Amino acid sequence: MTDSVSDWHRLAGTSVLLDGFHAVKHAVRFGADIPVAVSVDRAAALALADELAPDVREALAGLLVEVPQDTYRALVPRPHPTAVAALAVRPAREANLRALARTPRTAPVIVLDQPRNLGNAGAVIRLAAGFGATGVVTTGTLDPWHPTVVRGGAGLHFATAVERLTVDELPPGPVFALDPEGEDIRGLKLPDDAVLAFGSERTGLSAELRERTDHLVSLPMRPQVSSYNLATSVGMTLFHWSAS
Ligand SMILES: C[S@@+](CC[C@H](N)C(=O)[O-])C[C@H]1O[C@@H](n2cnc3c(N)ncnc32)[C@H](O)[C@@H]1O
Repeated sequence: MTDSVSDWHRLAGTSVLLDGFHAVKHAVRFGADIPVAVSVDRAAALALADELAPDVREALAGLLVEVPQDTYRALVPRPHPTAVAALAVRPAREANLRALARTPRTAPVIVLDQPRNLGNAGAVIRLAAGFGATGVVTTGTLDPWHPTVVRGGAGLHFATAVERLTVDELPPGPVFALDPEGEDIRGLKLPDDAVLAFGSERTGLSAELRERTDHLVSLPMRPQVSSYNLATSVGMTLFHWSAS
């Protein structure tokens, strides 16, 4: 137990915090390197694994170290009801860049152009993981590995390639940018190598992104409504890609 706590203190500043059973479960399932994991009630956490995630039960049994409630609360800023937490090694940027640039691509890359809301970014990473997207790229100042984004992504940053890039550095592939003024998505087939770009919550698509755009695409919406939420727009677009 003492070793795990000192490992935690040594690694916390440079690692990805996985908060709660589901985040740890997803990270284990998608191959994250997890040097330390703690739980207030190891038996309860393993019982949860038996019930919800038997595929990772053995791995969790090898990782989880029981710590007292006070120790857990001191390690994790916003303790999760499941009282399970872990630290994971952030995947190397070079590996993510290789995954994003690899062609031919079998699933789109999502670009969030200057997003502002950390919860939206997490929700998009979860969607991208669910649909098997190649990756999620953000432009602008938001860090897609911010702890609040990782929390919103439920540990699924490890199931796709997540990086921040400039518009000039976007991966190859035709850019389909989503905007209410575009062509109706229902008449289009989105190719597997598409780069699907979405604008910021406040101001929509930036001028740089518009310059890189090959096709401007809209989601159906009645005239009196101005726009959809960013993550909702990504969900609809990925669903359309998957269904056509
Ligand atoms: C909350 S909206 C941005 C609203 C912003 N005020 C604007 O001027 O565009 C965030 C992003 O979601 C996507 N989006 C929202 N509604 C859309 C729609 N009906 N069609 C296509 N994209 C949409 C766009 O990419 C948009 O930039």
